[in-house]
Amino acid sequence: MKKRDVSATKDESVIGHVDNKLDVSAIKDGSVIDHIDSKSTLKVATILNIQDEERVVLVGMNLESKCLGKKGIIKIGGKIIDQKEVNKIALIAPNATVNIIKDYNVVKKFKVAVPETIEGIVKCFNPNCVSNHHNLEPKLHVLNKNPIRLQCHYCERVMDSNDFVLT
Ligand SMILES: Nc1ncnc2c1ncn2[C@@H]1O[C@H](COP(=O)(O)OP(=O)(O)OP(=O)(O)O)[C@@H](O)[C@H]1O
Ligand SMILES: [Mg+2]
Ligand SMILES: [Zn+2]
Repeated sequence: MKKRDVSATKDESVIGHVDNKLDVSAIKDGSVIDHIDSKSTLKVATILNIQDEERVVLVGMNLESKCLGKKGIIKIGGKIIDQKEVNKIALIAPNATVNIIKDYNVVKKFKVAVPETIEGIVKCFNPNCVSNHHNLEPKLHVLNKNPIRLQCHYCERVMDSNDFVLT
């Protein structure tokens, strides 16, 4: 992947879009979650438990984006985000891309992907659903990926991103 002129970005605290400068400062190693729909940025931050991180965490919102209009970005130093976290992010930020940074360079890049069925990440919204009463792992079928629509395997209730609760 392409090398970045780190010297030009290291001491930049200004947030803006200038050629060869990052919207949010560089990190040496870690993960960057990019292309988050701006309004979902803090939800993604919550999923990633950034409040428990010990290393640097940078959050940007309302940044200029060609495809999304406005985007959010989260950079977490020293953390390689795992598949379970990626699946959760996909449910509320289906356009997000994850970049793994090593020694200031992007060494891996992938789009989050919503699976066909979701087990154990989202709880059914229906308080009377059997899955909320009998120690059953919640299971939902994905009816639509973007915007997300899910249907409970047990009670068949349909939910959108405003309804469902992440476990
Ligand atoms: N060392 C770094 N520290 C922090 N963030 C970085 C670093 N290197 C790249 N990024 C960020 O990671 C994201 C992906 O970087 P990349 O260089 O691939 O940009 P891009 O060409 O705009 O990619 P994309 O097509 O995914 O938007 C960008 O948001 C960029 O600001
Ligand atoms: Mg970009
Ligand atoms: Zn249900």
